[in-house]
Amino acid sequence: MVTSSAPGKVYLFGEHAVVYGEPAVPCAIERRVHVTATEIDEGLRIHANDLQLDGFTVEYSGDGESHPDVDVAESLVEAGMGYVNEAVSQARDAADAPEAGFEISVEGDIPLGAGLGSSAALVVAAIDAATRELGVELSASEIADRAYQVEHAVQDGQASRADTFCSAMGGAVRVEGDDCRRLDGIDTLPFVIGYDGGAGDTGALVAGVRDLRGKYDFAADTVTAIGDIVREGESVLGTGDYERLGELMDFNHGLLSALGVSSRSLDSMVWAARDADAHGAKLTGAGGGGCIVALDETDDALTALKYTPGCEDVFRAELDTDGVRQE
Ligand code: PMV
Repeated sequence: MVTSSAPGKVYLFGEHAVVYGEPAVPCAIERRVHVTATEIDEGLRIHANDLQLDGFTVEYSGDGESHPDVDVAESLVEAGMGYVNEAVSQARDAADAPEAGFEISVEGDIPLGAGLGSSAALVVAAIDAATRELGVELSASEIADRAYQVEHAVQDGQASRADTFCSAMGGAVRVEGDDCRRLDGIDTLPFVIGYDGGAGDTGALVAGVRDLRGKYDFAADTVTAIGDIVREGESVLGTGDYERLGELMDFNHGLLSALGVSSRSLDSMVWAARDADAHGAKLTGAGGGGCIVALDETDDALTALKYTPGCEDVFRAELDTDGVRQE
């Protein structure tokens, strides 16, 4: 039996623009998905008791069929099973053990579909645990690559390398097309996450930006401007100048709003954090609902968000310099 874990992430800068070849900077956070893999005679059994879905257990035998007793958030459960199924296939392939059977248990404290990279963390941890259980140790970059193939397969070709690379490597990373690398020397970033309890529809939001960009020059210019902010932000990151980083996060959020991907609850959480003197705040991920990230080393934004209408949960999640690891 092997347990591995992998972190979720926030976008410090660059979501949406990354789809058009601009760089982005996702950062791993101290919220993890833990996956335990045990080799069994045949098939695949999955237990997922705590992915912030009230509690469910799923068992199935590897053919993608869901168990009829599943009564909560069925589409999320099925999506989760799809990710685990494909991750296990990658592990079988890596270990040259096509018939290996597995029992997989998943635990996590990352809200699903809310811009925090829960599916990438699940896939990365599952590949690591299942390959180790078969006696094979993959490098973090090979896990990132295989995890990307999984997301690509499950999400019908709509996946960027950002989430899986960040989760496998940890720390702050830079992604530009297929070129992914870790940014050195960034050890700490005081993130506070606000969560509105919802989730955006990533496909629809990405399509909305594409339409806008095709229709209006301002939208194309906005995407380019986000790229400029990412490049500026990258150079500021290493200096530890939180004032300037926060200012750039604020600009990035404004540009994302202009592209139509913010929402009332995301905006009100962003403003609550700013009013509490956070250095800066922005939505993270596809938007439409889900999470914001604020930069604040005090407890002020955290406290303010607790009392902000529309904010369902708030927590501190520092930069996690560790990527995937065996527990
Ligand atoms: O919400 P997330 O964490 O899946 O991020 C989506 C990021 C986008 O740039 C909007 C889409 C993408 O594939 O890069």
